[in-house]
Amino acid sequence: PALEKIHHDITAWYSANARELPWRGSAAGPWAVMVSEFMLQQTPVVRVRPVWEAWMQRWPTPAALAAEPVAEAVRAWGRLGYPRRALRLHAAAVVITNEHGGKVPGTEAELLALPGVGTYTAAAIACFAFKVPTVVVDTNIRRVHARLVSGKALPEQSQNAAELALAARLLPQAGEGNDAGTALANDWNIAVMELGALVCTARSPRCEDCPVVNQCAWIAAGRPEPHYKPKGQ
Ligand code: ADE
Repeated sequence: PALEKIHHDITAWYSANARELPWRGSAAGPWAVMVSEFMLQQTPVVRVRPVWEAWMQRWPTPAALAAEPVAEAVRAWGRLGYPRRALRLHAAAVVITNEHGGKVPGTEAELLALPGVGTYTAAAIACFAFKVPTVVVDTNIRRVHARLVSGKALPEQSQNAAELALAARLLPQAGEGNDAGTALANDWNIAVMELGALVCTARSPRCEDCPVVNQCAWIAAGRPEPHYKPKGQ
């Protein structure tokens, strides 16, 4: 019951407050989501957006990218940084073209086998593009979980099994509310990620704007300080 209220409050907040990003929503196909996740691995949304737009215009499908020399992909990557991601995205497009009939595969196992796709990226593509009700865990999500449920200012510095178990426990279950569960799990992951990016930030969180401030274990504990210095933001 308490968990259902948290699910409701955070997903309702997301509906009203999410950024409109072109790789979100029903119009964005799996390739659009995949390109965005590669770019967002180490680069903030504001810098990714224009490069993603140009990329999708030029290479609307994996096959279009696979047909180009890899140097073109690196050039189009521009100043996003970590240009090895461009090499891997190109290599992934080649595999998708040759082994998956040009369509981004929809299971985490198939996604994990692609160049440049790790645990997070496989889960994110499966969840956001294919509505697979899977556990997605990134730094924003880990921080929200640490505060809301564990009462800590920040998660441990590296991800552990207990965090994954917690994330799995928090995932909305099939049949919850008036929903079939799948769509709800998918909305939940992106909503928690957005809450972490916009409100429950590493430094100076905006608790006054938080939809679950009254249910937050970190608030209840008196907002104890982090036990290490947060990176970023
Ligand atoms: N939306 C979907 N995935 C995202 C990410 N990794 N960062 C920000 N917004 C996202």
